[in-house]
Amino acid sequence: MSTPPHIIALCGSLRDESYTRIALEQALDSAAELGASTALLDLREYDLPVFDADSRDVGDADRLREDVQQADAVILGSPMYHGSYSAPLKNALDYCGFDEFEETTVGLLAVAGGSFPTGTLDHLRAVCRSVNAWVLPHQVAIPSAYEQFEDGALVDEKLAERTAVLGQRMVQYASIEPDPASFESKQNVGADD
Ligand SMILES: Cc1cc2nc3c(=O)[nH]c(=O)nc-3n(C[C@H](O)[C@H](O)[C@H](O)COP(=O)(O)O)c2cc1C
Repeated sequence: MSTPPHIIALCGSLRDESYTRIALEQALDSAAELGASTALLDLREYDLPVFDADSRDVGDADRLREDVQQADAVILGSPMYHGSYSAPLKNALDYCGFDEFEETTVGLLAVAGGSFPTGTLDHLRAVCRSVNAWVLPHQVAIPSAYEQFEDGALVDEKLAERTAVLGQRMVQYASIEPDPASFESKQNVGADD
């Protein structure tokens, strides 16, 4: 890639003081230090009604899809909600599909109030697989969120380092040559309309 990659993050928490958003910003800062252009797509600023497959172009759906399509790599960040990822992120992802994610590098980050948000990451990885995204092996799981952040920053050194490495890997693999399309992808017709 001759021009610097454009890396975005989608935050699945709408909370004003979201720990997920803080961590995503730190990952993007780390990507920017390596020369990437970055943007955090704040889903609070998009009008996205609960997804209805009969009405895919409502509200700011087109703007969301354009913003995702312009990215070379996308970080998906979510709080753990009931063992999985959050509804705002699911809603945004359902407005997207192969056009936005196929052959796109994706990084994952999850934050939990309790134990490691493994389910959140696993479920997001499965969604990415279904739209032929290329998901980094390196991922960030932040447990016990209330103890890890102070004054708007991650204070745990190891977690901060893992988050910085996520940003670096996003730049490193933004232009990865993807695998050929899978058999599975041909069956996922709903996402390919
Ligand atoms: C609806 C809901 C469900 C949640 N479910 C879990 C859960 O299953 N496991 C857990 O450890 N924390 C759970 N939490 C706590 C959040 O993961 C935690 O508060 C996290 O920091 C929120 O991320 P945010 O600061 O980015 O909003 C839940 C919170 C909410 C609001």
